[in-house]
Formats: sequence, C-alpha cells, structure tokens
Amino acid sequence: MAIWNLGSINIDRVYRLDSLPLPGETLTSRSHNSGLGGKGANQSVAAACAGAVTHHLGAMGPGDDWVIERLAARGVDTAHVARMADQATGHAIIMVDDQAENAIVIHPGANRAIDEDHLTRSLTGIGAGDTLLLQNETSGQVAAAQAANAAGARVIYSAAPFDLQAVRQVLPHVTILAMNEGEAAQLFAALPGDLPVQGLLITRGSKGAEYRDLTTGRTHEQASFKVTPVDTTGAGDTFAGYFAAGLDGGLSIPDALRRASAAAALQVTRPGAGDAIPTAAEVDAFLAAQS
Ligand code: RIB
Repeated sequence: MAIWNLGSINIDRVYRLDSLPLPGETLTSRSHNSGLGGKGANQSVAAACAGAVTHHLGAMGPGDDWVIERLAARGVDTAHVARMADQATGHAIIMVDDQAENAIVIHPGANRAIDEDHLTRSLTGIGAGDTLLLQNETSGQVAAAQAANAAGARVIYSAAPFDLQAVRQVLPHVTILAMNEGEAAQLFAALPGDLPVQGLLITRGSKGAEYRDLTTGRTHEQASFKVTPVDTTGAGDTFAGYFAAGLDGGLSIPDALRRASAAAALQVTRPGAGDAIPTAAEVDAFLAAQS
C-alpha cells in the first residue's frame, strides 16, 4: 500500500510575537525563522514518518532546493514534484504569539499552477488499497480525486483552508473528509444532511478528535494528550498524515486516532510545521510514557 499526496509545498517564514497584530497595527517580531511547510508537505512528512510509502505530487519554483531535500530527508518520494521556471515556490507568512496561536497568509505560487496532465500521468501508479491525500492549497484537486477514485483508492480530503465551492466539487470523489471543528461547523451549516462520504475526521485541538464512521453510524472519540504547546502550526496536518498512514498500515480506527493524536501532541511542543513532525520512534516513546 502507498500514500499519494497532491499537496502544497511552502516555505514557512515564521515570526514570533507577544501577540498577533490588530488591523492597522505594526509590531516588531522577537525572532524569525524559515522552515518546511505547506499543508501538503506537512502531511507527506507525517505520513512518511509514520512509516507509509509516501509519494508527494506537487510543484515548486526554481531554486529553493533545500525544501525538496528536506522532504526527501524525511522519507518522502519527491520524484513527481514538478519544478516550474515561471512560478515562485509557495510561501507562508506565519505569526505566532505567546499562547502558541497563529495567523497565516499564504502565497500559493506553483501550488496553484500544477499541470493536470502531469498530475494524472504521475497518478497512473496509484491502485486499489492505496490512499490519495488532498488539501485545498493546490490546483488539480478534482482531477486527482477522480483518477484515484477510478483506480479504487481511498481519498482523504482535508477541507483546509475551507472553501465551500472547493469542497462541493471534490466531495463526490472523497472517501474520508478531514476538518477541524471550525471547518466542520461551516460545512454542516452549508450542507445539512448526510454527506456522501464513508467517514468524517474532526479534530478539535486540545479538546481531542473524533472519527464518525458513516457506514456503521459509529463515532470513535480520542482525547488529546496534555502537553504545553509552543506552536500549533501544522498540528492538524500531522494528525491527518499520521491517521492516513495508520489506515494505510492496517491499524484500527481507534489505534490510528491514538497514534495521530500523540504525533500532533508532540509536534506542537516544537517550533515550526513540517520540521517539527515527530518520527514513529518518538511517537512510540511518547505513548509508552503515558500511564
Ligand atoms: O497547516 C499549516 C500550514 O498552512 C503551514 O505550514 C503553512 O505553510 C500553511 O500552508
């Protein structure tokens, strides 16, 4: 089995502040770092760290080779990442305050210029039993979901950043819809009634997570592990990538939820997004230390 991830690749430019700026306010940051980010890249790193064979499908501009080298160093297959001479690599301006909350602005660049022909050629290797991950930071989502669905693969769509039109278009091809509680509230308000998917993964940060199996009507709940966060950027991506890898590896839903929750808990204790994602050994040690 393998995970294929059509996902954004961003350079995260992170600024630490006492508090997030109000409209019209100018603030001086205490520190500035650049690191690996993008919801897609973060999910690929998480899935690969969790032990899944992970192929990343995406695009970057020229240069910035450290980004792709860092993805590869975490075990992600980057052979299908296109390099576009006329596009900038996606980047994100991320402000993080003393409560570990953030505000993010992204410039999509190459992430929104992905060529659908290249994408569907890359996906010819996907098969039944594989998983396609998608988030709403790239172009080509519907084409990829259709191709994966036709091949009999599981399709997990993270509806983030939330855009109702994007969800509507991809929903007919989705197996599991992953959202945080804010995104879920927006979706349920806009689309009341049954959704045409097999499962809903809803993450609630420090309040835990749940998986609603719509085929059995059963809900599995997972409490969060108590940690002191320093930066919550990418926690949802870590959860989604570890959860997908758990399913890909044959874990039960409760076991996949528990490992994903542990990975996200560890990830928020470190600064950064993709660079803060723990290895499987670190997750094992964290879980072993729980009473
Ligand atoms: O989910 C966190 C991610 O959102 C960051 O890494 C940033 O790049 C944005 O895509």
